[in-house]
Amino acid sequence: MRVEILNYLREKENYISGEELAHKLHLTRQAFWKHIQELRNLGYEIIAVPHLGYKLTKIPDKLYPWQVKFKLNSKFIGKEIFYFEKTTSTMDEALGLGKDNAAEGAVVCAEYQTKARGRLGRKWLSAKSKGLYFSIILKPKIPPSKIPCITLLSAVAVVRAVKKLTGLSLSIKWPNDVLIEDRKLAGILTELNAEQDRINFIVVGVGVNVNNTKSELPPKAVSLNAVLGRKVNRLELLQRILEEFEVVYVDFKHKGSSPIIDEWRKLSYIWGSKVKALLPDKTIKGEALDLDSDGALMVRTDSGMVEKIVAGDIVRIK
Ligand code: BTN
Repeated sequence: MRVEILNYLREKENYISGEELAHKLHLTRQAFWKHIQELRNLGYEIIAVPHLGYKLTKIPDKLYPWQVKFKLNSKFIGKEIFYFEKTTSTMDEALGLGKDNAAEGAVVCAEYQTKARGRLGRKWLSAKSKGLYFSIILKPKIPPSKIPCITLLSAVAVVRAVKKLTGLSLSIKWPNDVLIEDRKLAGILTELNAEQDRINFIVVGVGVNVNNTKSELPPKAVSLNAVLGRKVNRLELLQRILEEFEVVYVDFKHKGSSPIIDEWRKLSYIWGSKVKALLPDKTIKGEALDLDSDGALMVRTDSGMVEKIVAGDIVRIK
């Protein structure tokens, strides 16, 4: 009911009569008033003027599920949203929900994470209500070799969404770093629940530095706020990412990996450069050639051999 009242207030730019609204929603005036108070307690600023009625003047900077879903233009990504003010990691929550059979496209988002993780055992700084921290549950019917494509398509969705909302052009560093001028803006972590040759579900975790200040970020990272010099609406950005995610993911399911790999390839600037690839068991040096159809990075080593890299980190050598 609270959400219905809110949606009426959001739709109407001017004052709306409390009496009329209470009547429309079959509420007593007292019950209506109680809901208005609850909304105010959640951070909504609602002014009440005698003879005119109620007007919503400020929406809190929170990723409340009903706010994310409001006019969200997607069919299944974000249809179900689980919200946490604070959690260890949205990955933990999503992996748990996946085991409990949450639907494909369910999203877990948090204002703050106490044990957020990145790739290769790294930490992810999650300053409260400053960035976007969320995970998406996916159940694609793909062979395990195609899993890296999920990371790639997620990065493409972030790039497209940021461009749409802010006009900024981003680039991608293999496999999952979304960059602005060589500084990290967003990271993607893909984790699995799988048996030998069968994927039960995949969780894609996305962290985006939105309004984080310099002191809330690692040295080589950057936020949208720092680049644009203004606060960016996290809610709108999350909505745009979820919408773009659905588009690229559905495309991937229907058309396979090549459209996404083509787009990804154009967003990366390492082709032809000398790189050092830090793999779990060794380091190799060579020229970054291309991505293969599974999203693996092809590197021609100094001895002329072409190595296929599926996990690790790369750095460009000057
Ligand atoms: C990386 O660049 O290494 C990946 C970072 C992924 C961070 C996000 S924030 C939301 C989700 N929860 C986590 O604990 N990690 C991911």
